[in-house]
Amino acid sequence: MIPEEYEKGYKYFLGNKIDLSLKPLIPREETEYWVSLILKEIKEGSKCLDLFSGSGCIGLSILKAIKNSYCDFGEIEDKFIEQIKVNLEGIDENRYNIIKTDVFSNIEGKYDYILANPPYVAEKRINEVGEDVLEYEPRVALFSGENGMDAITKIINEGFNYLNINGLLVIEHDEDQKKEIEELILKNPYSKYEFHKDQFNKYRFVKIYV
Ligand SMILES: C[S@@+](CC[C@H](N)C(=O)[O-])C[C@H]1O[C@@H](n2cnc3c(N)ncnc32)[C@H](O)[C@@H]1O
Repeated sequence: MIPEEYEKGYKYFLGNKIDLSLKPLIPREETEYWVSLILKEIKEGSKCLDLFSGSGCIGLSILKAIKNSYCDFGEIEDKFIEQIKVNLEGIDENRYNIIKTDVFSNIEGKYDYILANPPYVAEKRINEVGEDVLEYEPRVALFSGENGMDAITKIINEGFNYLNINGLLVIEHDEDQKKEIEELILKNPYSKYEFHKDQFNKYRFVKIYV
């Protein structure tokens, strides 16, 4: 059955109405949960990057909640770039830029915060994905190689280049990717990291500091 969010054409994410008419990934409550926690620590005037933006729900929440913040949106699919534009209508154009990019390929400069909800479902676990998700939601938003680690690996191996001193990188992931993610972090010049659980008691996001 077509998800009701696509039928209605929108979903609320942290109090913001997110247009879904171009069918990006439907924002998930696990994402809403960790973004709400990170928003509490983002300082006024921060420069942020919402990487793997999809609908743009994460960056829009930053721009709405944090005074004088600036946010770039990085997304690979043209259709979702159009969707982000729709969702940013009414926001001062000096506060954001939408960048077509393959992970960091077209990203320049440094950020105080990078928030990333990449595709991370393992292709080998396709049988565990719900029928409706597979039929209606974009595959490019879900899968990332055999172990679901392709995008996450790139973010961790390159992310430190795009962070200011004391900058923070936050990545959403699957619980069973924790160990592999930890190994990747330790191979790169980061100073500290913390894994956190979601509201369902599953390890769901990692905070990585340069
Ligand atoms: C899991 S969705 C996240 C969407 C939104 N940020 C959210 O939290 O609901 C991942 C998004 O990343 C995009 N994407 C996939 N591969 C990418 C890549 N290599 N570079 C940039 N964006 C990519 C997909 O098109 C999709 O919109």
